[in-house]
Amino acid sequence: MSNILRRGRLEAAQGEEILRYTSSMEADRRIFEADIAVDLAHTVMLKEQGIISKEDCSKILSGLLRIREGGMEKLDFSYEDIHISLESRLIDMVGEDVGGRMHSGRSRNDEVATCIRLALREDLTGLLEEIFALRNTLLTLAEKHINTLMPGFTHLQHAQPTTFAHHICAHEAAFGRDFDRVLDAFSRVNLCPLGAAAFASTGFNLNRKRTQELLGFEGLLENSMDAVSSRDHLIECASVFTNLMINLSRMAEELVIWSSSEFNFVELDDTYASTSSIMPQKKNPDTAELMRGKTGVAVGALMSLITICKGLPLSYNRDLQEATPNIWRSVETVSASVRIMEGMIRTMRVHAEVLAAQSVAGFTTATELADTMVRETGIPFRTAHQIVGMLAKEEEKPTLEKIDSVAEIVLGDSLSGRGLTKNMIKEALDPVSNIKRRKLTGGPAPEEIRHYLSKRQTDLELNKQEIATLKDMTDSAFENLLTAVNEYRKA
Ligand code: ARG
Repeated sequence: MSNILRRGRLEAAQGEEILRYTSSMEADRRIFEADIAVDLAHTVMLKEQGIISKEDCSKILSGLLRIREGGMEKLDFSYEDIHISLESRLIDMVGEDVGGRMHSGRSRNDEVATCIRLALREDLTGLLEEIFALRNTLLTLAEKHINTLMPGFTHLQHAQPTTFAHHICAHEAAFGRDFDRVLDAFSRVNLCPLGAAAFASTGFNLNRKRTQELLGFEGLLENSMDAVSSRDHLIECASVFTNLMINLSRMAEELVIWSSSEFNFVELDDTYASTSSIMPQKKNPDTAELMRGKTGVAVGALMSLITICKGLPLSYNRDLQEATPNIWRSVETVSASVRIMEGMIRTMRVHAEVLAAQSVAGFTTATELADTMVRETGIPFRTAHQIVGMLAKEEEKPTLEKIDSVAEIVLGDSLSGRGLTKNMIKEALDPVSNIKRRKLTGGPAPEEIRHYLSKRQTDLELNKQEIATLKDMTDSAFENLLTAVNEYRKA
C-alpha cells in the first residue's frame, strides 16, 4: 500500500538519502516493545471511553499482538519511524476501517515521549540491579581485607597507612551515591506523557489516568505541551550516567596502576587481560583501560543531549529525535561497565603481602609520629611537623636520640625530657597501631570498619527492597495491561 502518512499533503516520495537522513527506524528498535505496549494501552482506553467499538478494539489488539510476535524485523523500514511503520502494518493486517482508528486522539509526539520513558525505565531498573551487585561485591571484598594494610595516597605519593578494606569502601560509597541518583532520576522518568496528543491535548474524551495506570507510570506529565517537548529527564539521566562512569573510570585507573610491576598490588583475572602481538610476556589490563576510555561515550552523550535541547522553542521539534539515541548509547555503555567492573573486582587477585610491605614505605607513619609528640609532650603540632619534616630528610628510621637532637635545634629542648619514650616512638612507627588509633567515624580502624560495613550492608538490603518495589510496580501494571488486552480481544 502507499505510504499512509505521505499520501495526503505530500506528493513526492522521499528520496533514499533523505529518508536515511531523517528516519529513526534503526534507533527505534530500542522502543519496539514499548511502542506495542503504548498502542495496546491506548486502544484499551479508546474502547473503554467508547471512542472505538469493542469489535474494532478486539481486532486491533489481536493485530498488535501478532506484530509483537513477528518482531521489529517484520516492519517496513522505508517508513520514517516505528510508529507509522507499525500502524501501517496494522492497517495491512486488519484494514484501514479498523486499524485506521488506533491513532485517534494521539500524535507520534506523545507516543514517542511515552515509549522513551517506558524503555528508559527498564534500563534504569537494570542499572540499579547492576550497581547493587557491584556494591555487594565491593563490600564482600572489603570484609576480607579489614586487616590488610596498604599505603594510602595523596598526589599519588605514599601518605599514611590505611587498609585495603578502607580503600575499597571509599569506592563503594561513591557507587552508593550513584545508586541514589539513578533512583531519584527514575522518579522523574516514570511519568506518563500519553494523552497530550500533538501538544495541545485533544477534543476526544480520553482517560489519561487509565493509560498512565495501564503502563505502570507513577503519575502524569500533566501539561500537554511540556509532556511532548521536554527531554530534561534525558539530560538528567545522561548526567547521572556520566557521574557513575567517572566513578568507574577512577576505579579502573587504579586497577591499571595497581597491575603494573611497580605497584603489583593486584592481578586481574586473565579474562579481563590482553597480551601483546609482539611482546609475548605481556599481560595488559585492557578491559580496565577501555572502561577508562569509554567514559568518553557517556560524556559525549551528555554533551550531545545538552546541545540538541538548547534553544529549542516549544513544543515538539524533530531535533528531539536526534537526542534519543544518545541516551541509549550512554545507558548501554554504563550498564556494561558496571557489570564488567563487578566481575573484574570479584575475580582479581589481591597481593596482601605487597600491600602490607608497601604500607610503611615513604615514611607513611610520619603524621602519627608528629601527633604522638603533640599528645605526649604538649608541643604545638606545627613545631612537631617541622621536627618530623627534618627527620624525614634522613635515610634511617627516627630514633629517640635523633628526635632529641633535631628538637634541640628547633625547640632548644629535648622531647625525652618532656616525656617522649622509645616505646611511644615504636608505637607511632607501627602501621598496625596507626590504623587502630584511627577509629573515628569513617576511619580505617578494624572495629570502626566492621561497624561501617554492617551499616552499609543494611543500606544495601534497603536498596534491594527499593528495586523490588519498582519492579513489582511495573510488572504488575504490565500484567494488568495484558489482562485487559486478553479480555477485550475475546469480545
Ligand atoms: N521519530 C520521532 C522522534 O523520535 C517520532 C515523533 C515524530 N513526530 C513528528 N511530529 N514528526 O521524535
